[in-house]
Amino acid sequence: MQVELGERSYPVEIGAGTLATLGERVAERSGASRAVVITVPPVGRRYGARAMRSLRAAGLKPTRIDVPDGDATKNLRQVEKLYHALLEARADRHTVLVALGGGMVGDLTGFTAASFLRGIPFVQVPTSVLAMVDASVGGKTGVNLREGKNLVGAFHQPRLVSIDIETLRSLPARERSAGLAEVVKKAAIWDRGLFARLERDAEALLALDEKALVPVLTRAVEIKAEVVAQDERESGVRMLLNFGHTLAHAIEALLRYRGLLHGEAVAIGMIYAAARSEALGFAPAGTAERIEALCRRLDLPTEPPDHPRSAYLAAMAVDKKKRDSRIHFVVLDGIGAAHTVPLLPSEVAAGLPRGAARRKKGKS
Ligand SMILES: NC(=O)c1ccc[n+]([C@@H]2O[C@H](COP(=O)([O-])OP(=O)(O)OC[C@H]3O[C@@H](n4cnc5c(N)ncnc54)[C@H](O)[C@@H]3O)[C@@H](O)[C@H]2O)c1
Ligand SMILES: [Zn+2]
Repeated sequence: MQVELGERSYPVEIGAGTLATLGERVAERSGASRAVVITVPPVGRRYGARAMRSLRAAGLKPTRIDVPDGDATKNLRQVEKLYHALLEARADRHTVLVALGGGMVGDLTGFTAASFLRGIPFVQVPTSVLAMVDASVGGKTGVNLREGKNLVGAFHQPRLVSIDIETLRSLPARERSAGLAEVVKKAAIWDRGLFARLERDAEALLALDEKALVPVLTRAVEIKAEVVAQDERESGVRMLLNFGHTLAHAIEALLRYRGLLHGEAVAIGMIYAAARSEALGFAPAGTAERIEALCRRLDLPTEPPDHPRSAYLAAMAVDKKKRDSRIHFVVLDGIGAAHTVPLLPSEVAAGLPRGAARRKKGKS
């Protein structure tokens, strides 16, 4: 598969066992003479040696740098530490960085590559579902600030994205489900055939059945690549990828990024946005129910956490994607098609309970 961005185009490969031969493609795609692998301990411990071996075999004299796991590490202090470690490893413009890990490693490594010596090549080797279908393709890199997530960054396209689905075996089940939520999102806005496939194969996907997984991941990456190729800098169609994210970001902020994974918040946000789409007359009745049923089968939460509407409103009003006090809210026209409508935060939140909702038990 190819992400088409003129002279910055790059291939995305998906397969089982690709890590063992990664080095050849890294050398070929980057033209580098050495490689630095950046990873986190849970991933490096399992797959670091395999990656290093193949890079060494390709003559790339690899060095490995482990950073602490968790999104709290995705910050400027860590970037600076990486610059020093890179200099110590004698990295120069002929060095390629290899991001081996989830989206956090990808964003941190990508931003470091974008800025070190004003930009050196990098390669994405995503090992979480979320990173495979979302974070690794598109060239958005960046770090968090104390004031908010992903507030500092750069567009820097990788030279190659190499996906080895075998690495998913060690990914915690909750992380698998959360990553699949982003696949549900892509299907909901773009491809009803993919949505139907998800409905057919939900359990097989959770079990990482290769026959179910490879076509779904491939299609999900294709959709991201299509959208990015049409709209590299996120002005038009790329905004559709924010489906479910207005409420998700508010939920995450209200929970102070604890308790729910991003994909879990997105599942709740998508069901809510689909219900709003129905209420606003864009989507046919039953659209939200279909998304909710699929999310349940993928072991994803479906109900917003218990906060009054006013709290959600306050959280949404600081969403950085909001413009002129209106939110470009992504609504569905049905499963597989979407557009944005400019809505006031109050119109977005109209479907939330006014007071703190009592837990709805046994709601179908
Ligand atoms: N650049 C983009 O376009 C973009 C898009 C979406 C998300 N993101 C970013 O991606 C990050 C989230 O990505 P994520 O969900 O992959 O989180 P993550 O990178 O923090 O990984 C989640 C957890 O899974 C572990 N893990 C990853 N792969 C594993 C494996 N194969 N085996 C065992 N454990 C494994 C990680 O160590 C971590 O503990 C956030 O920082 C987010 O801002 C970026
Ligand atoms: Zn997301």
